[in-house]
This record gives sequence, structure tokens and C-alpha cells, in this order.
Amino acid sequence: MSIKNSCVYLVGGGPGDPELLTLKALRLIEQADVVVYDRLVGDAVLDLVPTGTARIYVGKAAGDHALPQDEINELLYRLAQSKTHVVRLKGGDPNVFGRGAEEADYLEARGVRVEMVPGVTAAAACSAAARVPLTYRGLASGVRFVTGHRRNDGELDLDWRGLTDTDTTLVIYMGLSTLPLFSAKLMNAGMAPSTPAVLIASGATPNQKVVKATLSTLTQRAEETGLEMPVLTIIGEVASVASVRETPDENALDRKLESGVV
Ligand SMILES: C[S@@+](CC[C@H](N)C(=O)[O-])C[C@H]1O[C@@H](n2cnc3c(N)ncnc32)[C@H](O)[C@@H]1O
Repeated sequence: MSIKNSCVYLVGGGPGDPELLTLKALRLIEQADVVVYDRLVGDAVLDLVPTGTARIYVGKAAGDHALPQDEINELLYRLAQSKTHVVRLKGGDPNVFGRGAEEADYLEARGVRVEMVPGVTAAAACSAAARVPLTYRGLASGVRFVTGHRRNDGELDLDWRGLTDTDTTLVIYMGLSTLPLFSAKLMNAGMAPSTPAVLIASGATPNQKVVKATLSTLTQRAEETGLEMPVLTIIGEVASVASVRETPDENALDRKLESGVV
């Protein structure tokens, strides 16, 4: 088979709710010869892959890649040599902390046709599900997406002072383990400890959990509510608007009983 007849579709699978897939993503999944997918692709989305279509899991939890990125690139290239319709399904959007462009570059440099299909990124999905606006007239005129992931556990090299701009909402992806660092660095750089914040775990899925906090209580709130990945953190005045819906904290009574407050 000639590689000229093949296409690798880099498809955004959204946050996990299949109804948040684009129609194009759904059509491509249904027509795929093979689907190569990540850890954050929801089970309900995978259920849309027709029985009989090959599926290949390539993982990717922080520091735990089922396949390293260069092997994923090579796998896609190999698949394009024998299949016409290769779907590379990613959580959220391929171009937001998704390494979609790296995969596209690798494939296109080897003559493989690539098409990119956007998906609903976690920030948009969590914003809607928890009712935290990302921009809001008079509170935030812009939004910034930053990574909380430290490459090879090295230093998180961010412009901390620049991130303290109170007119811009800060959205942190992959930041659960680095929350203490974020709080400390942002407060050191001048952001008020009382700045409102929201933590959203598994947003737009049946396991969604929403926890309100402030910049200074982020770590404590994440720990006491037992938040588990994936977690998105939104910091800024937008987190104080009335519509923000916190998930009832089922452990609150136990904690009060333990501490003798009740
Ligand atoms: C490697 S990044 C991938 C982001 C993805 N490409 C996107 O556009 O949403 C993984 C991070 O996205 C965030 N994330 C993805 N899905 C999420 C969800 N359903 N709820 C909360 N955060 C999510 C978390 O911060 C997680 O650590």
C-alpha cells in the first residue's frame, strides 16, 4: 500500500463526555482502521469505536508513559504504511498540552498526510461544568493556560510575576502535584493569598468534583477532599462569581466529628 493513500487524523476526544465530541471526530472514529489512544480518552468515548476496529493504548500518565513519545511517533508512521485511516485520539484538544504538533511534524516530514481535528479542551469543559467563567466583564479580560508539569521533575520555569496579573485568569493543567509550589511562588511574586480559586477533578465526567479554595488553601483543600487526577486549577477573581458550583463535600462531617467541632 502506498503511504500517499493514508491519513493520520489527530483527533481531540474532549474531556470524556462523548456528547462533547465534534461530529467530525465521531465520523472519523467510526471510519477508522485503527485507533491509537491516550489515558485521558474517556471510556464512554472509546465505546464509540466500532467492535472489530483495532485499538492501541499508548498511555501517558505523568512520568508513566506506556510508550515514550518518540515510539508513539514511530508507531503512527508504521501504521500509516499499512492502514489508510489512522485515528490518533487524544484527551481534550490535540494542541493544548497534547503534543499534537510534534506528532504532525514527525509524520509530515516522512510524507504522511495529517489532519488535525480540534476537541473541547479541559479548561472549556471544566469551566462549563463547574460554571466558572474564564473571562468575565470587570473581573478578567484574558486567560492564560500554563502547565504545572515539571519536565523530568526539574524546575518549573514560569514567569511568576507575569502570572500574578489580577485581570487575567490563570488555568493550570497537570498541576496537582505542584500545587504547593504554585501557591508559594505566586504569593512570593505578589499575588494575594486570598485570591479565589477552584479545583476541578474529572470535569465533565460522572466523577466530577469541584472544590473552592483560595491561593493559600489550594493544597490543603485538594488534600482534605481527596482529589485525584486529572485536576484542573482555575485561579482568579472569576472563581468568586455566584454561579460556581462546588460539589458537596461528603467528608466534611467526618472531619468535623474527628476534630470535635460538632
Ligand atoms: C497532558 S494534559 C492534556 C490536556 C488536553 N490536551 C486538553 O486539551 O484538555 C492533561 C491535563 O489536562 C487536564 N484535564 C484533562 N481532562 C480533564 C478533566 N476531565 N477534568 C479536569 N482536568 C482535566 C488535567 O490538568 C490533566 O492533568
